[in-house]
Order: sequence, then structure tokens, then C-alpha cells
Amino acid sequence: MCVCFKLTNDDCFTTDIFKPRVLLLENVGSTSTEAKTLLTQGETEGTIVLARTQTAGRGRKGRPWLSPVGGLYFSIILKPRLGNENTPLLGLLCACAVRRALHALDVNVQVKWPNDILVDDRKIAGILSEAVTIDNETTGIVIGIGVNQNCPISEMPVGLQWPATSVIDEIGKETSNESLLCDIVNEIDSLLKVVEINSSFSAVVEEWRKTSSTLGKTVRIHEDDRITDGVARDIGEDGSLLVETEDGLVSVLLGDVHHVRSGE
Ligand code: BTN
Repeated sequence: MCVCFKLTNDDCFTTDIFKPRVLLLENVGSTSTEAKTLLTQGETEGTIVLARTQTAGRGRKGRPWLSPVGGLYFSIILKPRLGNENTPLLGLLCACAVRRALHALDVNVQVKWPNDILVDDRKIAGILSEAVTIDNETTGIVIGIGVNQNCPISEMPVGLQWPATSVIDEIGKETSNESLLCDIVNEIDSLLKVVEINSSFSAVVEEWRKTSSTLGKTVRIHEDDRITDGVARDIGEDGSLLVETEDGLVSVLLGDVHHVRSGE
């Protein structure tokens, strides 16, 4: 692993549930791969791997995540909650946290199932949630978060998979990577607090419903070997997407959602 740097202000964390410990790297393959290794070596909830750039950033379904200087790239270790693995629900929770932090920067964002963050239909941030299992037991969940922050889309390397935007394109000025990191981590902590107080993810699911761009839309969902067409109606308590299809209500736990426009 390469040289580590200190955050310029690590007093910005106001968490109660976990104590953030940030490993700041100049350049890494993937912060999520590093965090998974650290988890298997005994690191626990609150460990964060932050990098200025990634050479092998990973998105969902093995897609690459372009990671030029200026973006925010980090992965945080969380523990499973309420006796379950909870990977999909922790992903939704982190999407709500990223939405809140970007909203505070005056970026008008919505969440798209499962955990993309969009401005209109353009992607501004993505989340990768991965469980790490040792001896058939989930020891932790690594949540990798990438935000197109200070990298204008016109200057991004070719290879973007979706229509995209960035914080700087939306608000016209640079913002601090470290402040955004702290805001997102503090929001994750306060949402986890609600989960622990209520012994339930219901409040998270409700916030996700209210801020979603997916519900009510005509969607096409690509799972590994299945395509589901229908109208996205709701989110189940396990984080699955409930889609009304010609054959009735179908619950989808994993997949890529395409919002179908009229005429498509
Ligand atoms: C997606 O939308 O497909 C998820 C993208 C997740 C990208 C982040 S960047 C930080 C962390 N490290 C990775 O390799 N991936 C995640």
C-alpha cells in the first residue's frame, strides 16, 4: 500500500455510532479492494479508505469507475445490522446519506434504485456495497462511494457508461473533497442511529421512497439472465424493488434499472 497522508481537518466528524479512522492514499487500485483486505485483517466499522485517484475503480457488475483527480473516492467498513447481512439496505442507507450531503451543497439530486445518485437522468455518484464473508459469516460490509465532484464531465476520460454530471458542473464552483467526505460519513452515522433506535430500517426505506426518481416510472430491469418490464411501484422492507408487470408484482433484489421514456 502507498504512502498515507492526513486529512487537513479530521475534527469534522461528529459521529456517535462509530469513530471514523481515515486512511488517505494518493493513488490506489480500488479503495473498496483495499478496504476489503483491511476488513479481513481485522479492521472494524468506521475504517475509511480515501484516495485522490484510483487506477482500477470498480462499479457494480464489474464495470469500471473512472476516477480522475478531483472526484471523491472512498470506501467505508460497516458492520451488518439487526442480525442480518443487510447489504442492500445499507446500500440504500448510504444513498440517502449521499443525497443529503449533495442536497446541502445545493445540488438537486434524487436516488435511483438500487443506489445511484442522479441529477435529472444524469449520474453524479455511485455506490458499490459488498459483503465480506469469512467461514460463512458476514464479517462486514464495504460501501464504496464515488462522487463526480470537481471533475467537469467535459474533461472526463472517454468511457463513461451513462449520461453523467458532476458537482462542479451543477453549481459552477469547486467544493472540498474532505468536507463532502465528512458530511456523507456524518449522515451515514445519523441514519444508522435511527436504525438502531428503531431496530428497523423502515425510516431509511421511507426516506428513500420520498427522494426516489424510480418509483412510478416505467422500467426495464436487467438481471443476470432475466429482463423485467413494468412499472416500479415500491421498495420492500428488504430493499428490493417491487415492479408491477403483466404477470403481477415481481420483487427484484439485484439488477440494473433503465427508466423507459415514452416512445422508447
Ligand atoms: C456504480 O455506480 O456502479 C458504483 C460505483 C462505485 C465507485 C466507488 S469509487 C470508491 C469505491 N472504490 C471502487 O473501486 N468503487 C467504489
